[in-house]
Amino acid sequence: MTLVPQTLDEINYWDLDMFEHGDPHEAWRIQREQAPVWWHDRDGGEPFWSVARFDDALAVLSDPLLFSSQRDGIIVRTDAALESGPPGAGLGIQPMIHTDPPRHAPLRSIISHNFRPRSIAQLEDQIRAAAVECLERAADERDVDFVIDIAHQVPAAITFALMGVPEDMWSRLADLQHQTVTATDPEFTHGRSPQEAAAAASLELHTYFAQIIQERMEEPGDDLLSQFLQGRIDGEELSWMQVVAEAGLLLAGGLDTTRAAASAGGILPLIQNPDQLKLLQDDPSLIGGATDEFVRWASPITSEARTATRDCELAGQKISEGDRVVVWSPSSNRDEAHFEDPYRFDVLRNPRHLGFAFGEHYCLGVHLARLTLKVEFEELLSRFSGFELTGEPARVRSNFVNGLKHLPVRLTPK
Ligand code: HEM
Repeated sequence: MTLVPQTLDEINYWDLDMFEHGDPHEAWRIQREQAPVWWHDRDGGEPFWSVARFDDALAVLSDPLLFSSQRDGIIVRTDAALESGPPGAGLGIQPMIHTDPPRHAPLRSIISHNFRPRSIAQLEDQIRAAAVECLERAADERDVDFVIDIAHQVPAAITFALMGVPEDMWSRLADLQHQTVTATDPEFTHGRSPQEAAAAASLELHTYFAQIIQERMEEPGDDLLSQFLQGRIDGEELSWMQVVAEAGLLLAGGLDTTRAAASAGGILPLIQNPDQLKLLQDDPSLIGGATDEFVRWASPITSEARTATRDCELAGQKISEGDRVVVWSPSSNRDEAHFEDPYRFDVLRNPRHLGFAFGEHYCLGVHLARLTLKVEFEELLSRFSGFELTGEPARVRSNFVNGLKHLPVRLTPK
């Protein structure tokens, strides 16, 4: 166990202690400096090319035919995950994030109009209402867990509403989502192994969504699941299993990412950098522009894995067909060659970052995430003048999701 690696030799990206309690940024810094595209072959999981620099990550994400999401999925696999089979094994069907061209674009285009800036702008009142509701509760409490009580609440309310999921299911589905996507964190799996917990949670999610989808087949609405059911690819309907898979993706995409940006990328660095907080307090019109710095800082999706579909070269390294290639967005987003003073949190930076990925799978929810963060922080800073940490932030134990699970904060109302 090396919490803060000092040499390339000490880096082991399977060591989740480093991600939870140590400093993976030090591992990535060493790698960027000494071996930007590096064959990582350590006990614990599949070997892979570890890509630490911005430009190399961009090259990988820009070429979905050479670097496939579909062949082995986008999550780097532990030995145990390899044994339990391909992603989506329960259904045998992959959501759009695990597909390549030519299948990917038509699938995405069934719902993509909902995520254009103009459509997202129409959600502003709904987002504001969700933010006001949880912030009014927080004003009564004053001592809150910022992750659970605020950062989780707003994106969850909007994502579930877009999917047409009734409110009495929100909390259970969020728990199940944690058990699938962050099954490596024992807090979410209640003592079960990651594989056991993830399999049980996937089954419950699939069963629930299959039932909702049956209802939507009988009585379509204007929610995203109904739209998938009405969509056609080459004149063919999507199978209900495909719609179940897309429902799981929307849940995974919509909830913990924005929550991580608001907590690990927003309020925490704002508390740690009072000058930056003051800038936003003095001029709230800067908040919208700051949201991309929140995402750069938190980089909520830690890793995006791909598989090389033919022999090729990346940064002078010979990659063979079938090799796994892993892009680390927190590393790209701290690349000294791309960002000036990358370890400085700067709400005026307006960065061009890879937190939302790039190219074919560029985050579908990017405009929703930005608006959610903007509205949430406008309402937060208009109600409270003081923010104080009252305990240690707790990081998620994962090399896939980069976020906080708890952040105790005392709020001082204005
Ligand atoms: C700060 C918040 C967010 C971050 C940092 C983020 C990050 C990402 C990243 C990195 C990817 C690409 C993964 C890859 O290339 O393998 C992605 C894809 C995706 N995201 Fe987001 N996301 C956020 C918010 C959202 C929201 C709010 C939604 C929807 C409600 C969403 C839905 C999706 C979907 C559906 C995809 C798959 C797109 C495709 O395959 O074409 N995301 N996101």
